[in-house]
Amino acid sequence: GLPARVRIHEVGARDGLQNEKTAVPTEVKAEFIRRLADAGLTTIEATSFVHPKWVPQLADAEQLFPMVSGLGGVRLPVLVPNRRGLDRALALGAREVAVFASATETFARANLNRTLDESLSVFEPVVRQAKDADAHVRGYVSMCFGDPWEGAVPLDQVVRVCRALRDMGCDELSLGDTIGVATPGHVRALLTGLNAAGVPTDVIGVHFHDTYGQALANTHAALLHGVSTVDASAGGLGGCPYAKSATGNLATEDLVWMLRGLGIDTGVDLGRLVATSTWMAGHLGRPSPSRTVRALSHE
Ligand code: HMG
Ligand code: MG
Repeated sequence: GLPARVRIHEVGARDGLQNEKTAVPTEVKAEFIRRLADAGLTTIEATSFVHPKWVPQLADAEQLFPMVSGLGGVRLPVLVPNRRGLDRALALGAREVAVFASATETFARANLNRTLDESLSVFEPVVRQAKDADAHVRGYVSMCFGDPWEGAVPLDQVVRVCRALRDMGCDELSLGDTIGVATPGHVRALLTGLNAAGVPTDVIGVHFHDTYGQALANTHAALLHGVSTVDASAGGLGGCPYAKSATGNLATEDLVWMLRGLGIDTGVDLGRLVATSTWMAGHLGRPSPSRTVRALSHE
């Protein structure tokens, strides 16, 4: 049945802004994160400690993180692709990190410049070192439901990568539908397959992109399976610069609207969140694609 409470893992400042063509000033990013916290979001992915040439949009991670790390009561996970990224994050006092694997060979190459198995070998000591430092570790798995180059992705392949990340010590997983091709039956099948392989539902989060308009339906299918961690991006910002045809993530406002209707508590103030996304849309120079933002926006 449906969970009583859902933790929203807000990714707008990372997954959203990593894809913007124009650089967003660091102070605007910090203000965005503060406003998201003020709207009641309690897990706000702040940035990535990746190579600045690969993702120039987040090259200011060293400046940004200290500007928001003092926010009380908010978890601020950051992405780390390797040892260098983890060292940079831990040096600034990060308490939560995320490694990001791929369920497919082609995307491991495109996103991490490594084969799938090489990337897992890179993550293994990173996860161990993060756990030794008492950090919480999330393991993303991209292309769980389809890959722009390889097409359909066999369920066994996704399960293998998820199992590998769990065996390394990742505290939670996030199943990425990087290009937004999943449908609810597929979501149900993958969750059932993971459970059968010994991965319990309570360590699984879902990460949907809305390319085909399925993100909310997919989320509902995951909730019915008992998933209670859902990734979403304020205003529906997002995409991935290394995955063609990835559009914005599920919009946090659309998610909150549905959860509110289902009587599921999130602690988010929808009015404040819409105001934040509208403000951010002003900085980015285009309206939010979120239907809920458009419906509730007064500007
Ligand atoms: P590489 O070029 O193979 O790196 O990139 P390398 O290990 O060969 O090192 C080359 C140089 O880069 C070295 O410097 C390293 O020190 C430096 P040199 O010795 O030549 O002077 N370097 C770094 N510098 C700063 N920070 C680092 C770092 N690492 C190496 N962390 C690498 C490999 C993984 C670094 C690169 O491919 C990379 O940064 N990729 C990141 C791609 C990315 O951020 N993608 C978006 C996030 S994933 C996503 O959006 C999907 C998700 O939302 C879920 C979904 O939707 O599916 C999570
Ligand atoms: Mg993503």
